[in-house]
Amino acid sequence: MPDIQSIISQMTLEEKAALCTGATSWTTTPVERLGVPELFVSDGPHGVRRVPSADEIATTSLPATCFPTASCLASTWDVDLLRRMGEALAEECIALKVDVLLGPGANMKRSPLGGRNFEYFSEDPYLAGEMAASLINGVQSQGVGTSLKHFAANNQEFQRFTISAEIDERTLREIYLPAFETAVKKAHPWTVMCAYNKLNGVYCSENYYLLVDILKKEWGFEGLVVSDWGAVHDRVKSLQGGLDWEMPGPQERRVKAVVAAVKAGTLDEAVLNESVRRILGVVFKAAQTHKGGVFDVDAHHELARQIAAEGMVLLKNNGLLPLKDHSHIAVIGRSAETAHFQGGGSSHINPTKVAMPFKELQVRAGSAELTYAEGYPKDNSLRPDLVQQAVDVARSADVALLYIALPSFKESEGYDRPDLDLTGQQIALIKAVAKVQPNTVVILNTGAPVARSAWIADVAAVLEAWMMGQAGGAAIADVLFGRVNPSGKLAETFPLKASDIPAHVNWPGGNGEVRYGEGIFIGYRYYDEKDMPVLFPFGYGLSYTSFAYSHARLSAATFKDVDGLTVSVDVTNTGKVAGKEVVQVYVHDQKSGLVRPHKELKGFAKVELQPGETKTLSISLDFRAFAYYHPAYRQWITEDGEFDILIGASAADIRASQTVTLQSTLDLPCLIDKESTIRQWMADRRGQAVLGPFYRQIEEYSRKIFGGGERYGDSIGMDVMDMIQDMPLLSVLKFQQRLLPLPAEEMLEGLLAQVHA
Ligand code: BGC
Repeated sequence: MPDIQSIISQMTLEEKAALCTGATSWTTTPVERLGVPELFVSDGPHGVRRVPSADEIATTSLPATCFPTASCLASTWDVDLLRRMGEALAEECIALKVDVLLGPGANMKRSPLGGRNFEYFSEDPYLAGEMAASLINGVQSQGVGTSLKHFAANNQEFQRFTISAEIDERTLREIYLPAFETAVKKAHPWTVMCAYNKLNGVYCSENYYLLVDILKKEWGFEGLVVSDWGAVHDRVKSLQGGLDWEMPGPQERRVKAVVAAVKAGTLDEAVLNESVRRILGVVFKAAQTHKGGVFDVDAHHELARQIAAEGMVLLKNNGLLPLKDHSHIAVIGRSAETAHFQGGGSSHINPTKVAMPFKELQVRAGSAELTYAEGYPKDNSLRPDLVQQAVDVARSADVALLYIALPSFKESEGYDRPDLDLTGQQIALIKAVAKVQPNTVVILNTGAPVARSAWIADVAAVLEAWMMGQAGGAAIADVLFGRVNPSGKLAETFPLKASDIPAHVNWPGGNGEVRYGEGIFIGYRYYDEKDMPVLFPFGYGLSYTSFAYSHARLSAATFKDVDGLTVSVDVTNTGKVAGKEVVQVYVHDQKSGLVRPHKELKGFAKVELQPGETKTLSISLDFRAFAYYHPAYRQWITEDGEFDILIGASAADIRASQTVTLQSTLDLPCLIDKESTIRQWMADRRGQAVLGPFYRQIEEYSRKIFGGGERYGDSIGMDVMDMIQDMPLLSVLKFQQRLLPLPAEEMLEGLLAQVHA
């Protein structure tokens, strides 16, 4: 590693400004005279979109493996697999001469309608954080960088370049930031990409609070912050806000603006130097990995197949699957012939090869006869003739496999989905086929949930195959024929209808802003709290075998928050075939100062079991598993008390529950002030010590004034103490003024002085 400080000291102002702006669509500006090479970045996130020329943005990229997209990846719940995928991505980056892969995306799925949800992991920050960290660790273990994106609160496509996500501090800290925080702290991505949108009125590209206070100072991020492509509005403000590198380039006016600002004294050169230092750090780190060579196309295709099969979620099965001895199989739907395995936009990969679902079925189906019908057109038109053809084919077969892909005009980067529905033609097709063929299996290629109340009762089985990557066609056949026992579980709730979605009344916003009015209650946190039925719950997925949970136990009955807790459970495969189970640990705080979700995922593990086999799983929970972010203290806090530890096969299928007592080791500052209510005084240790001795007297005086209790009768028909509890102490004292020796204000001041002493 060269001496970066010495290089900075030799750089001219113009060279520094130029380094902070891209030279091309994908590279930094090299400084040849000082031996500073260029850095080459490419999309991301589930494959390498390396365009042949750095000057072009969206020409057909060089062939690379298209792995499944993040919805599928998260549904594997398999951190080791994601790490392996990361390693493979890095090998391809090296072969394709890419220094930094632009991904993964760690934004929350606030609404299933988000157009880019297929590129994101989950509605749950814990799961998304673990997935992102593993993928990053895999890539970076090979000497290739990543770009954790889009930081932050880029949860919709509607007006994504300008809209302001209006989010309260607690919601930001508990829902929209933790996946990024986990990835930064556990995996140290070389770069973080800021989002296009504004956060609480300030562009993320110039948001000092987000980029400097939180990311760089609080979380200790040491890499560089790059803009999303075109996210910078004012280069000087963005440098001051912590945005190190603007992309894409070239942008001569920006470079000049930076130089002019330093000369005019409106931009401190130290700020520029800091960004230069961060960029050079990544440039030289990348240069240590020699680029070029080839990657193993077949091995990566096989890995993509394995990941796809692990991420597919079997949602319904009346026993038809796995397919056994069918002699005539109807294969219906265009996506059986033209695999729909990825989404549109910047993540679009030029695959090395594609496993066609129909052909892959043929390989697995042996001597069975396969008959194909197109089923639905490429566009949104209604084609009764295609439905009729499909019905004819289905009627004469033993089983019908319906391959249904949500078309890109309904799901892509750049626009949100207008509804949760398949196309009208697809719905009509499923219903018509199911009517003549009871053995109908629906295989869905979508990046997000679709509604299915109209037809799900009529079909025998449903497989959510996601945007499954280039090898997904083979993975579907693997699952349908039982070569792979499905083990994917949903990383997001499938709602019954669009109006059930937590963000519904605040989606997608307007007048330049979108209010995150549902707060911390997104995904299952909301449906739990509302006790609302869903189509399929978070964490849900079927298998060809069954699992029993037993002997759940905790490492302690009482523990200190800083020591954490270990949860153990025995899991047994009680069926006839080998399989994998995803065990989920949720935490429920029985009583807390601020409202908390009914339960929150804080740990999970995936385990493989042979028939009859039992294994013990141990999952550890740390301080953060029990803490919540308190906006008044501006920190994560724990509170003494009881917590339920819920061990489940999904958010709606809790198999065991244990209660544990937490002892908080925090010594929080006292927040009592002149507005604090009697209840707040008494809830605080110090407040109680000061006010406690007078409490009886306050009660006595209150009853004297308002009535109540045995002595003073029921003059105003209410329990006065219930009301008094939630009055500020000062107001109560004022009502009692004629009984007090001092003015109420003076008394309060005295008590406050004692409490803060
Ligand atoms: C996307 C990013 C992507 C970048 C470069 C942007 O439009 O939001 O995710 O990395 O383009 O293609």
